[in-house]
Amino acid sequence: MSDRWDPLALPSQDGRTIVVTGGNAGIGYFTAEQLARAGARVVLAARSPERARTAMAAIRRQVPDAALDTVALDLTALASVARAADELRTLRPLHALVNNAGLVVSPRRRETTADGLELLTGGNFFGHFALTALLWPALAEDARVVGLGSMSTRMSRLDPGDLQSVRRYAPFRAYAMSKHLVHGFAFELDRRLRATGSGRASLLAHPGFAVTGLAARRPGVTDLPAGKRATERVLFSLVGQGKDSGAWPVVRAVADPDAESGTFYGPSRVLAGHPVPLAPVVSSASPVFGAQLWSLAERLTGVRFEV
Ligand SMILES: NC(=O)c1ccc[n+]([C@@H]2O[C@H](COP(=O)([O-])OP(=O)(O)OC[C@H]3O[C@@H](n4cnc5c(N)ncnc54)[C@H](OP(=O)(O)O)[C@@H]3O)[C@@H](O)[C@H]2O)c1
Repeated sequence: MSDRWDPLALPSQDGRTIVVTGGNAGIGYFTAEQLARAGARVVLAARSPERARTAMAAIRRQVPDAALDTVALDLTALASVARAADELRTLRPLHALVNNAGLVVSPRRRETTADGLELLTGGNFFGHFALTALLWPALAEDARVVGLGSMSTRMSRLDPGDLQSVRRYAPFRAYAMSKHLVHGFAFELDRRLRATGSGRASLLAHPGFAVTGLAARRPGVTDLPAGKRATERVLFSLVGQGKDSGAWPVVRAVADPDAESGTFYGPSRVLAGHPVPLAPVVSSASPVFGAQLWSLAERLTGVRFEV
């Protein structure tokens, strides 16, 4: 695996169609912009059509000939996921699916999705599981599925007996649990792909600690009150990075021709830096957990996922 990856000089993505969930904001936005600049046709799957249009206009200011589409998607409602998948299947073949969108701020008290799933695990994992399964027939033979992992999995333990925080809810724990599930899914999908000799790949990326205040400005997308921007710059410039750099591990997972299925990319200095391969937390990457999670996800989403 090559480590001479230059996030500012991507290989051409001409001819590839790439779906980015949550492509209208944050890391998803910069992922979409960077891939569009490299020539990909990028589909922003976003819950707000207006914010998606604003993001497309922002990308076009940077990349005037960008090929862009948008599809409505709310990951906290499985009916919306199914509608989005119907629409996305018409754009086949899809060469990459970037499961980026995320609820990053947990409510103080436990909440549930339209389908009764705990909100964070429902939106960040179960919705993406269903989307990936429903899009499976539309993926190219060498397609990549990229999940958005997190270092929060190192700070809060996986509790296989209480994945949806029924017994105990704490906001950060619920977020970290949702990311354990994202990790578990990525590595289980990788194992299943290898077992079948598939040409498709499952990868994981985490952006480090990525904030808007340190990112390049994109009017309408990265707007912050001046005070908040200044505070973020002062507080985080030594430990974090902009969401534009936070997109680098994600983009590497999508675009590095040498990237292998099962690779987890993240910044070299943990919270910031050059995108490099990393080791995941063992608990959520384990085959036993992965197999249990897959069955649970099929049952709770009502979507069968045959690889
Ligand atoms: N920033 C970090 O330091 C960091 C660290 C580790 C992992 N991550 C992960 O990176 C990903 C992106 O984070 P970010 O910092 O870019 O967050 P962000 O700026 O808050 O953007 C989140 C994106 O997800 C979308 N989204 C939220 N709920 C959704 C739903 N129910 N259905 C569809 N889309 C939804 C948002 O749409 P709206 O614009 O409509 O709200 C937005 O486009 C997340 O998965 C997060 O967990 C981030």
